[in-house]
Amino acid sequence: MSFNPEIFSANASFDSELSIAGVSADTLIRDFGSPLFVVDEADFKSRAISFKTALDKHFGSHAGNVYYASKAFLNKEIARWIDSVGIGIDVASGGELAVALAVNFPAERIQVHGNNKSEAEIEKAVLAGVGAIVVDSFHEIERVARIAASHKKIQKVFIRVTPGIEAHTHEFIATAHEDVKFGFSLASGAAWKAIEEIESEKSLKLVGLHSHIGSQIFDAAGFGVAAERVISLLAKFRDHYSDELPELDLGGGFGVAYLPGEESVNADSVLGELASIVTRECGNVGIRIPHISIEPGRAIAGPTTTTLYTVGTTKNIELDGGDTRRYIAVDGGFTDNMRPALYDAKYHAVLANRISTSHNVSSRIVGKHCESGDIIIREIQLPEDIAPGDILAVPVTGAYGRQMASNYNHLTRPAVIAVIDGNARIIVRRETEADLLALDI
Ligand code: LLP
Repeated sequence: MSFNPEIFSANASFDSELSIAGVSADTLIRDFGSPLFVVDEADFKSRAISFKTALDKHFGSHAGNVYYASKAFLNKEIARWIDSVGIGIDVASGGELAVALAVNFPAERIQVHGNNKSEAEIEKAVLAGVGAIVVDSFHEIERVARIAASHKKIQKVFIRVTPGIEAHTHEFIATAHEDVKFGFSLASGAAWKAIEEIESEKSLKLVGLHSHIGSQIFDAAGFGVAAERVISLLAKFRDHYSDELPELDLGGGFGVAYLPGEESVNADSVLGELASIVTRECGNVGIRIPHISIEPGRAIAGPTTTTLYTVGTTKNIELDGGDTRRYIAVDGGFTDNMRPALYDAKYHAVLANRISTSHNVSSRIVGKHCESGDIIIREIQLPEDIAPGDILAVPVTGAYGRQMASNYNHLTRPAVIAVIDGNARIIVRRETEADLLALDI
């Protein structure tokens, strides 16, 4: 039995079974049912703090803020945690904004994203007094300007710039190459035109530029090229307007380890590298270093959470060539983790409720949906004696797991449990069939 602590949350341990922050997998399933998302609360807060600490350390008086990208994992309690550690929150829809506002998250620390914000969403953000709206299109410049003016407000805005980077990540999670739906392209001149339009609107105040190059990025070089290109636009602004934009937001995308042997991006080292790139580039073009902000989502939420499933059935299949594959079906599936199906993402799992002495066999973990693509882990070596009733733990499911869950096959979405110092509590209750039926007329 091998337990790989580096891909489990900070307070997970394995003695005779898996425990998270002092609560055993078995106790969690007994008390709260199955499947479950289990969040290590102290780990969550400390990852959020580590980005703020690293930003402050490396950028000093030029540090802006850390905005937690709440699309990764959001509920009221998580919004409270983010508030409690003093960082900001990035919301990408009216729904995410509603969660932040529901817990009285300080509006000036909210940043609003989205490539197609509705007028209602814009109005809600303007009236709430959010810190900034990151504008993404020419239509939106007109809409935000008109809505802010109608409420006699001046809205701070960033421009989302696509700096033309081919980030080495899955196509669906790369966002800054030219042929993409997001933002204003730098190369075509659209970003400059957006600056001119915003500058001509009395109800808008342009505070800075924003770029987000994609997700699961491990190499600071990608952020470096983006920073360099966006800083050249800041210099053009200074040359033209004889004024400097005070803010630069470099987005999120810091990669995390999902499998044993992989290594997550370290906040301190990546921000150290970013600080030298930004300092050098600003020096090259002769502008003041702007306040630098970042928006990690996955790197804060991902590693803090483990999904616990209960095994329902197993079967062995003889493969061509004489090998055997063991199918292990659990009580969730691609509706609570669609990343393997959508991005070919790889996960690890362990038998969580006991130590097995039987030998490992080639296994495939599947869910309970009516689709053969409902696979959580395509190939993993797991003990041959795993049987119905055993608990499997899949780590690193905090980002884009529960948050991207659906109700396909009318499955009810799992509960989210926070664990800290030996105590477990529900922060999002399990969906019920009554919840599912409640929407039907
Ligand atoms: N900022 C902006 C503007 C973003 O669009 C995103 C993610 C982030 C920050 C946070 O990125 P992170 O640090 O979490 O990589 N569902 C996909 C990821 C989509 C990311 C969308 N935008 C996945 O499961 O991999």
